[in-house]
Amino acid sequence: MKIVSLRSCQLDPLWIDKILSLKEQEWSHGMTSQYAFFEKYYFHPHVHFLMQDESELIAYGMTKHRPDGVEILDSIIVDQHYRHQGFGKQLIHFILDYHKRCNGKSKCVLICRKHHIGFYQTFGFTPQPHITFSDKPLRQDQAILTNFDSPQRIYSYNQDYGNQMRCPGLL
Ligand SMILES: CC(C)(COP(=O)(O)OP(=O)(O)OC[C@H]1O[C@@H](n2cnc3c(N)ncnc32)[C@H](O)[C@@H]1OP(=O)(O)O)[C@@H](O)C(=O)NCCC(=O)NCCS
Repeated sequence: MKIVSLRSCQLDPLWIDKILSLKEQEWSHGMTSQYAFFEKYYFHPHVHFLMQDESELIAYGMTKHRPDGVEILDSIIVDQHYRHQGFGKQLIHFILDYHKRCNGKSKCVLICRKHHIGFYQTFGFTPQPHITFSDKPLRQDQAILTNFDSPQRIYSYNQDYGNQMRCPGLL
């Protein structure tokens, strides 16, 4: 079992298919819109984290980097056949360590369903009822969490950075 971190432009199409199939277990975005997502953000400095067992994708998550130093933690998922075995925990620790190594800190914001608040609290996240995410309105059963104090009031990715962010060295 290993975890790899890849930029969007480094993702092999075969692994994109596996990521989309895994995400379909939980979220029905539709494959077309999901392929469009990978195309749209091809040059963006998102980081994709893939937990692999040989050719199997066991778990996946991604971070969208904001230039203010805050990472948006997104799409954390463990294959339903592998849940409750500690893989989700390993993946989150890996992601937080990765950003600590890269940036010297790991400031993350995420949206999760309320029944997962307890899961994220074990990594130091706390609910932030006063902040909003302007990219997508929250549903009743969702909450916003951060692992740092004094967050700003509004977060977004698409509106703030959607058209500007590019990986250094890429187009
Ligand atoms: C949430 C999810 C990633 C957890 O992955 P997992 O591999 O089953 O979690 P782990 O086995 O690593 O659990 C780690 C710890 O968190 C605890 N935990 C797991 N889910 C929890 C929850 N909803 N609330 C509180 N604690 C939880 C476990 O009991 C375990 O505690 P322990 O170390 O003391 O035994 C997984 O259930 C999943 O993919 N869910 C569907 C997708 C989803 O909703 N993702 C979140 C979107 S933000």
